[in-house]
Order: sequence, then structure tokens, then C-alpha cells
Amino acid sequence: MSKYRIYMENESGDEEMLEFEGHEYRSLMEFVYNELFEDWGDCKGQAMCGTCHIEILEGEKGGMEPYEAHTLEGLPNKTSQSRLSCQMSLDASLHNLRFRILKDY
Ligand code: FES
Repeated sequence: MSKYRIYMENESGDEEMLEFEGHEYRSLMEFVYNELFEDWGDCKGQAMCGTCHIEILEGEKGGMEPYEAHTLEGLPNKTSQSRLSCQMSLDASLHNLRFRILKDY
């Protein structure tokens, strides 16, 4: 099975390269929760809490549902490249994308 990789920058500016096989986890949020840190995902992927807020630094990922956009609107540090990682499938479309974790608290 193919391996894919992403790059995730934490709040300290340190970047981790993470590898995955397609659909190992239900979402990018669950993958990062298990691989990197557990201090997010309060609503368990319901697109309600905003604690899984990330920014796409490099690469493109389309397909945002209205409820994701609605939750992002309420986040004080939203950027034009903000996403909720719980709403992003862990699949080949993420390969080589670069993200930054954006905490809201
Ligand atoms: S886990 Fe709550 S919005 Fe993503």
C-alpha cells in the first residue's frame, strides 16, 4: 500500500513529517491526535468546537462543507487557508501538504 506524507507545524514553529497509508484513520484530526498530540478534537469530529483548527501553508485542499465554514467563521484567528482537520479525510489528496496548527485558546 502506498505511503503518503504530510508536514505539520506545531505552535512552537517546529515541523513534523508524518506518514500514513490511505484511510488509516477517519480524518486528519484523528491521525494527528494519535501521532503528534492529544490536546484537540474536543467535539470528536463534529465540526463544532474548532480545537482541530489548522491552516494550509502549502498545497491545496478543496471541498469544504457549509457547517465547517460556519464553525471557522467563529474562530478569532481564522485565515483564508483555515480548515477543520476533523473534516478532512486522511487520503492521497493530502500528500505533501504542509499545515500549521492554529490554537484558539
Ligand atoms: S474536532 Fe471539533 S471541530 Fe474538529
